[in-house]
Amino acid sequence: MIKKKVKPTYEIWSEELTKIYGKGKEALEAVSEIDLRVRPGIHGFLGPNGAGKTTTINMLVGAISITKGNAKIRDEKAGTVTAKQIIGFLPQDPVFYVDMTGEDYLIYMGQLGGLQKQDAKRKAQELLDFFDLFEFRKKEIGTYSGGMKQKIGIAAALIHDPKVLILDEPTANLDPIGRADVIQKIKSLTDVSVFVSSHILSEIEQMCEDVTMIDLGKIVICDSIRNIKKRFISNLYILDTNMNEKIFKQLKGEDIITNIRIDEGDGKIHIIPKDSEKLRELLPQLLIKNKAILNSFHQPELSLQDIFMEIMSKKEVS
Ligand SMILES: Nc1ncnc2c1ncn2[C@@H]1O[C@H](COP(=O)(O)OP(=O)(O)OP(=O)(O)O)[C@@H](O)[C@H]1O
Ligand SMILES: [Mg+2]
Repeated sequence: MIKKKVKPTYEIWSEELTKIYGKGKEALEAVSEIDLRVRPGIHGFLGPNGAGKTTTINMLVGAISITKGNAKIRDEKAGTVTAKQIIGFLPQDPVFYVDMTGEDYLIYMGQLGGLQKQDAKRKAQELLDFFDLFEFRKKEIGTYSGGMKQKIGIAAALIHDPKVLILDEPTANLDPIGRADVIQKIKSLTDVSVFVSSHILSEIEQMCEDVTMIDLGKIVICDSIRNIKKRFISNLYILDTNMNEKIFKQLKGEDIITNIRIDEGDGKIHIIPKDSEKLRELLPQLLIKNKAILNSFHQPELSLQDIFMEIMSKKEVS
C-alpha cells in the first residue's frame, strides 16, 4: 500500500521568501530566504525596527513583488486574486478617508470587498458593535482617537469575512489604554487566524500562541511561546527568607554557587547555582541551622523579552 504523505496546511506558508530592493551597488536584501509556517490561531511576527516585517507582510498581501521564493495563503499563491480574497489586511500606516463616518467607511469597504450594500450594512453594524464604535458610527473618522482609528481599520479588514487577518503593528503609536483595548479585541476575534507584527514583545506574549522572530531579514526563531520558554529555562533561583543578609553571607562561600547577590529591586537572594540539586539539598539544612523562615524559593519564568535579548546577544557574539 502506498502511504499518502499528509502535508499540513498552513494559514501562511513560505519557502525561501526573499526581497531585494534596488539593484547593483544599491541593492538591499531586506528579507532573506525565510520559511514561514503559520498555523491557525494568533501568530506573532516579531523583530526590531528595520528587521523586514513590513517587507515580508507586503509580499504576503501582494502589495509588492516577491524577488525570489514562494509564499502561500492557505493553499493560494500570495498576490493572486484568490489569495487576496481570503486576506484581511491592516497596513502599518493606514490612510483613512477622514471625512467619511465610521459606518459609511465600513459599508464602502464592504462593497469594495464584493458585498451587496445590504450585507455590507449588516456586517458594518456587527463590527461597529464588536469594536465598541457603535455610538460613534455617525462621526467622521477624522474625529476618532488613535485607538478608534486602529479599530475601524481592523473592522474594515474584517468586513468581507477573511480567513486570515494580517495586521502590521496595529498598536504602534497608541497610548497604554488604546493598546490594551486593541489587544483585547484581537484576542477575542473568532473564526479568523491572525498574523500580527510588533516589536513589543510583551504584547505578542499576551496575544499569541506561536511566534516568528526575525532580524536583519532572517528568521531567528519560529515556535510556540510555550516551547520557546521550555528551551530557555532560566538557571536563576530566587530565595526569600526573614534573614536574607545572613543566609546570603553563608551561601556565598559555598562552592556549589556560580553567582549570588541580593537584588536591589526585590531585596531577595538571586542565586545561579553550579549544581542546583546540591543547592536544594543544602537549603533546608541552612534554614534549620539559622532558625530562618522561608518565604519563597522559585525559578522565575523568563519573559519573551528576556529570551529575545539572550538570543540577540548570542547572535552578536557568534
Ligand atoms: N521601498 C523600499 N526601498 C528600499 N529599501 C526599503 C524599502 N522599504 C524598506 N526598506 C528597507 O528594508 C529593510 C526592512 O524594512 P521594513 O520596513 O520591512 O522593516 P520593519 O521590520 O517593518 O521595520 P519597522 O519596525 O520599523 O516597521 C530596512 O532596512 C528598510 O530601510
Ligand atoms: Mg514595519
